Formats: sequence, C-alpha cells, structure tokens
Amino acid sequence: MCGIVGGVSERNVVSVILEGLHRLEYRGYDSVGIAVIDETQNLIRMRSVNRVTTLMEDCKSHNFKGNIGIGHTRWATHGGVTKHNAHPHFSHNTVAVVHNGIIENYSQKKIELKALGYEFVSETDTEVIAHLVHFHHIKKHKSLLQSIQDITKELVGGYALGVISQTSPNEIICISNKAPLTLGVGINEMYFASDVMALLPVTNKIIHLEDGDIAVLKLNEYSIYNHTGEKIKRSPVTSSLSALGAELGKYRHFMQKEIFEQPLAISDTLQYLGTTFDADKFGAKAIDIFKQINCIQIIACGTSYNAGMVAKYWFEEIVNFPCSVDIASEYRYKNVIVNHNQLFIFISQSGETADTLACIKHIHELNLHNTLAICNVAESSITRLSTLNIITKAGVEIGVASTKAFSTQLITLLYLSCTLAKIHNKLSKDTEEELVNQFNTLPAIITKTLSIETEMKRIAQDLKHKEHLLLIGRNVMYPIALEGALKIKEISYIHAESYASGELKHGPLSLIDKNMPIICLAPSKILYDKTMSNIEEVLARHGIVYILTDNPTHNLPDCHMNTVIDIPSNTSKYLLPIIYVVPLQLLAYHTALAKGTDVDKPRNLAKSVTVE
Ligand code: M6R
Repeated sequence: MCGIVGGVSERNVVSVILEGLHRLEYRGYDSVGIAVIDETQNLIRMRSVNRVTTLMEDCKSHNFKGNIGIGHTRWATHGGVTKHNAHPHFSHNTVAVVHNGIIENYSQKKIELKALGYEFVSETDTEVIAHLVHFHHIKKHKSLLQSIQDITKELVGGYALGVISQTSPNEIICISNKAPLTLGVGINEMYFASDVMALLPVTNKIIHLEDGDIAVLKLNEYSIYNHTGEKIKRSPVTSSLSALGAELGKYRHFMQKEIFEQPLAISDTLQYLGTTFDADKFGAKAIDIFKQINCIQIIACGTSYNAGMVAKYWFEEIVNFPCSVDIASEYRYKNVIVNHNQLFIFISQSGETADTLACIKHIHELNLHNTLAICNVAESSITRLSTLNIITKAGVEIGVASTKAFSTQLITLLYLSCTLAKIHNKLSKDTEEELVNQFNTLPAIITKTLSIETEMKRIAQDLKHKEHLLLIGRNVMYPIALEGALKIKEISYIHAESYASGELKHGPLSLIDKNMPIICLAPSKILYDKTMSNIEEVLARHGIVYILTDNPTHNLPDCHMNTVIDIPSNTSKYLLPIIYVVPLQLLAYHTALAKGTDVDKPRNLAKSVTVE
C-alpha cells in the first residue's frame, strides 16, 4: 500500500526521503516519486514507475536537492501505473501533495473543481486534494494550515497527507485521518512517515499522530492541532525499534528466509511467553478481563484470519468457550451481535490493516473495551488502540506472503487458549506442565519439518504446469488448508481452493479427474480414518493425491496416483497445525520459484493493506 515520507532540515533531505521510501518498499508499490522546494524556491519533482533505486539514480544524476520535501510509494487504486498518476501531485506548480488512503467523494469534488477552472492531468483521487489546497490557500488567501483544516471538512474517506507549498517554503503540513502517520523529531530537522521504520535512520524520537491530528513541521519546531482545531501537546517517545534493515543473508528471497527463520521466531515467542500460562503477558488489565469473559470474537484479514480460524477450534476445545471468527471487511459493515462478556481479538501482522483497525474502533465506539491485539509490530496503530496487546516475536517480516508471522500468531493463540483454560479452572497443573514441555519441543520439530524442502521442490515441478489445485483437511487442518491455498494463490498465481474434507462430496468432487492435484492433510491424531475415506474417494476418481501425514503406518492403497510426504510425528495434537503449515509454505515458495514469479512482491498485492 502507499507510503509517505517527508521532512524539513538544514541539510539536503532528498537522500533521507529516498531511504525512507526504500524502507517502505515492503508495503508494496508500483511507482514512486519525490518533490522538493529547491534553492531557487521552485517546486520540482522526480517520478518513476520503476523501483526506489531507479529514482535514487535519477535524483543523483539530476543533482536533485532541497531542504524541504515529500516522497511517496504508490500502490495504484485510482488510475493505472503511469508516471502521470505517480505522486507527488501538483496544483499550478505551487502546491504538492503526497497521500496514503482513498478519497471517497473525489468524483464530486473533481466536478466542482473543474467548474472552478482546475485542470486534471491524472486519474487519481489525490489530484483533487492538491487543487483543493490550492483553491483555499491561493484563491481564498488562507494559510497552508488553515487550508488543510478547511479541506478536511470537504473530503470523505481515510487519508494521511503531506503537503508543501512554494508560497510557504519553510513548513510541511501533514494530517492523519483514519490512516496512520508518525512524526520524527530530530535536531534541526523534522520528519513524518507512514511507518516509524522509515524514520529510524534519522531519529528515534517519534510521535504517533492520533486520528484527525494535523501537524505543522518546521526546522526547529512542530505544532499539532486535533480534529477540533485545538492546539495540543504531544511529546515524543523513544522508539524501541532498531534501524537495522532486514538483510537477505544467504537466502534468495525474504519469503524463503522467513520460512527458515520459523524455529527461531517460535523459540523467541515461547521464551517471551514463559513457562506458565500467565495472563499478565497480555497486559496489566488482562487478568480482570480474562476472568470476566465467556465467549470470543476474532476479527482479522487474510493469513491472520486463517490463524483465527485455527484458534477457534482451540478456544472451543481447550476453554470450552464459543468463538466466532469474522473477516474484518465483513464485520465492520454488518449488524454485530456483541456483549460485555466477549473478548474481541484482533490479529494482524502489520497492526495497520485498515479494515481490522476500523473494527477495533467500532467495538470501542460501542463502549466495549475487552479488546486484545495480537500483532507483530509494536507501536502499530492496532496495538496502540487495543486495551490489551501481545507482540509476536517473529521479527520484521518483509515478504508479502506471511509465514513466520502466521506460525507465531498460532503459538500465541494456543498459549492464550491455555491461559484462559487455566483461569477458568479447565487446566490442571499437570496438563499445564505437560503442554509447556511440549511447546518447547516445537522449534526442533519445525527444524526437522523444514528438511522436507527437497520433496516439496520436486512436487512444485509437478504443480507448476497446473492451473487448479485443491487442498483438503479436517478440524484445525481445514484452516491450514485455507492458509496453504492462500499462499499458493498469492505467489504462484495457481488457482488453489481449500475445502473441509467432508465437504468434497457436496460439490467439489465433480472437479476430480486425472488432471486435478489434491493436497490432503492427514494428521494421525485428528480424524485420521475419516480423512482416509476422503482420500479413497479422490483416488477412485483418478485424482492426483499428495498426502501429508505423520502416521508412519499409513495404510494407503499402493497406487501410482498418490505421493505420501512424511511429517515429523510424536507431539501434542495442538501443535500439529503449526507443523503442517510449513511444507505448504515451502510448496508455495518452490512453485512460485519454478514459475518465475516475483516471490517477495507478488503482482497486485501489498504487505500492509492500509486502505479498505
Ligand atoms: O497485517 P495483517 O496481518 O493485518 O494483514 C492481513 C492480510 O493482508 C495478510 O495476512 C495477507 O493475507 C498476507 N499477504 C497473506 O500472506
């Protein structure tokens, strides 16, 4: 999704902004641009439909410089991927705007602005903002700050903006309205960015703007006004995040690296969680909230939703609490049935997903505050908003396809299930000890599971020519099949669907023939015999079956249509989903590699989905 960065400094800000944009690349983008006010007080810009590195080279070769500027990575929403749609957008070469978000009433505003004589050169919603600022600032003679305050009354949607004007060359105005924005306070310099990662090379003194905040940045000072226009004091905090960027090391792709980092990520998460199931890991108020609740609502998107779907089985079995799981983009627009004894769990790797963020705000507006965020990014919008939160210790995840974030979400959710069971007297001391011991064996089992890579690489060669693929599983393995299908679709562009195995004969069985590959998840401890019957049904119709099982004595028919992949066995059934997802991640990775797709930045997708 789009990322914005900008700053005003005694030094040339171009390299700082470009480095910031480079650090926002992981969010996904298709074009990039920067604008500065140069030493002759002219507003100038450079834009590219290539990578940030290309823009860096262009800026260098054109000696592009300025002490005040704004930059943008664009993930196209309105209008194609072209240079004229890339940000920053100008109005009359006077005002420049970078924007993350969507202006929902931009068509209407465009008509009004055209009637006032404004000409549009792009298809974006952002150009409307540039002209509106120009109209208020230049035509109505308002200050730049007042102009931004005025346009917020006209714009509908979620947006974070950075604005500079040739007429006011010493200040940047930025706003956070339902889209996150962070200020970076330096010495003789001030910056803003969509994500703190972009600011860390220059400062760790940061201020997270609150919804509706407008900030004025100058060399040595900043001022912040809240949504009512009142000047307010917000002091910087010291970010605990490290400026070190993630490096590929010996790996070819971040996704591959992140799959192989899972033993460490799980071990770090387990170490943080500790050796007893303690509520205080989730926040100071957790014990009181956990005692009071008797049902659970999980809200998330994509892979995080799949983690929630696995957890539903755990909450229902281990804690005996009813649990609903909803996709955030659905939940936010339906009539929700809520109560004060419900725990609302928001799962998000990035902590910035717009739909999930909107749901947490919605729940708080309903005066319900039993909210818990499970995020991988400390200091993210979702963690800051929730009453309770826990940070998974996956470390920075760069690949768009989420892998280690998923497995650490799962172990955290399993730990939470056990913690709730303990508080509600459903977990004996002996079981607690046994489970903790088993949890601690998980990193080693995952390491062993990773050695299946060679087999998955070989299967990827079979799959790379296929257009369709089915994945099936029962109980917790059904959401793992969902997650496997999502990974395969996302990076190899093969149409992969997943079904609860028992659903096959209710429709999808008609798809089975000698060309259809089916991946079947068959753990020995989870409805194994039922799953075997489903496999027989597929084999009887000549489907090509790949069976993942930890049952060493699998009595599968000896048939050339099936391939059995042995998964390490001998662990708690609760850990099996975390183990079985690993071969599916490897399969997705190797299939994408065999097809030659852009593994870390799959087409049309973004790492951080900050618009709805
Ligand atoms: O950051 P979040 O976990 O909230 O993101 C949700 C989804 O966008 C994300 O999980 C997406 O589905 C992944 N790219 C899947 O690999």
